[in-house]
Amino acid sequence: MIAYEGKVALVTGAGSGIGKAIAEALAARGARVVLADIDAAGVKATAAALGKGASAVVCDLAEPAAGPRLVERCFAEQGRLDLVCSNAGIGHNRRLMKEAFDDGGVQRLFAVNLFAGLRIAQTYVRLLQGAGARGRLMLTASENSLSVPSAVKGSGLALYAATKHGLLIAAEWLRDELAHMSAPLDLHVLLPGAVYTPLVARSLPDPAMAPAALGLIFPERCAELALRGMDLGLFYIPTHAHLAEDMRPRTEGVAAVLKALGLSR
Ligand SMILES: NC(=O)c1ccc[n+]([C@@H]2O[C@H](COP(=O)([O-])OP(=O)(O)OC[C@H]3O[C@@H](n4cnc5c(N)ncnc54)[C@H](O)[C@@H]3O)[C@@H](O)[C@H]2O)c1
Repeated sequence: MIAYEGKVALVTGAGSGIGKAIAEALAARGARVVLADIDAAGVKATAAALGKGASAVVCDLAEPAAGPRLVERCFAEQGRLDLVCSNAGIGHNRRLMKEAFDDGGVQRLFAVNLFAGLRIAQTYVRLLQGAGARGRLMLTASENSLSVPSAVKGSGLALYAATKHGLLIAAEWLRDELAHMSAPLDLHVLLPGAVYTPLVARSLPDPAMAPAALGLIFPERCAELALRGMDLGLFYIPTHAHLAEDMRPRTEGVAAVLKALGLSR
């Protein structure tokens, strides 16, 4: 198990939902947690509830400089940064047939869900190398990174899924780059299925009405699995069994077509 006592962890999107639960779980294991969010009231309330050792930073991670500035500030103020959970994210439900693509909302979606975490990774690795220290980064992706999950079909998640799919493939390439440069960073990708947070509550006001196929869990369970996955040193940290099942149409579809084309080995 990772020893968090005396260690410093930064969690983005910690004012609510999964980030809040991860921050609480890390604090319960002894970490000093820096909580970052655009929601000033939420992040300050969470930090205050965690008490001594926790602090809040208000920032808008859609701004290109915000993620790097946040990591630099943590390093400078705390003297170390052992874990970054890049978790802040925004939802987006709109049919592709109605999507304008070039509006501010779409730019923001990609800025927060995809680029912020990658910018954080760049700065974090540079600072770790400069300090001769080792760190850990967990990026929150999604079940939507892997497939079109059967339980959410029809909900117009295409562009949201594109950000999360992009984040996963970027993380896989980042892992490759980090290995080539012997970077002092352990990398994890959290792949949550449905978690009952404000992001989901907008379209599902009553969690009791959730279809069983969704496998809805609560943020504390997601955080528990995230920390266990990091303890085990896992790169992929899925939270629901149906993730593997949902990937089958693609993997089996490609295998079947290779066979039909006479290309299978
Ligand atoms: N809830 C789910 O079912 C689910 C499933 C898969 C992945 N996720 C992902 O988990 C992460 C957390 O989502 P959640 O469900 O806890 O939602 P949430 O809305 O409860 O929490 C997201 C937090 O990110 C913050 N945030 C949004 N934009 C920001 C910005 N520009 N700068 C700084 N902070 C910003 C919000 O203020 C909020 O506190 C997201 O990346 C989301 O895509 C959630």
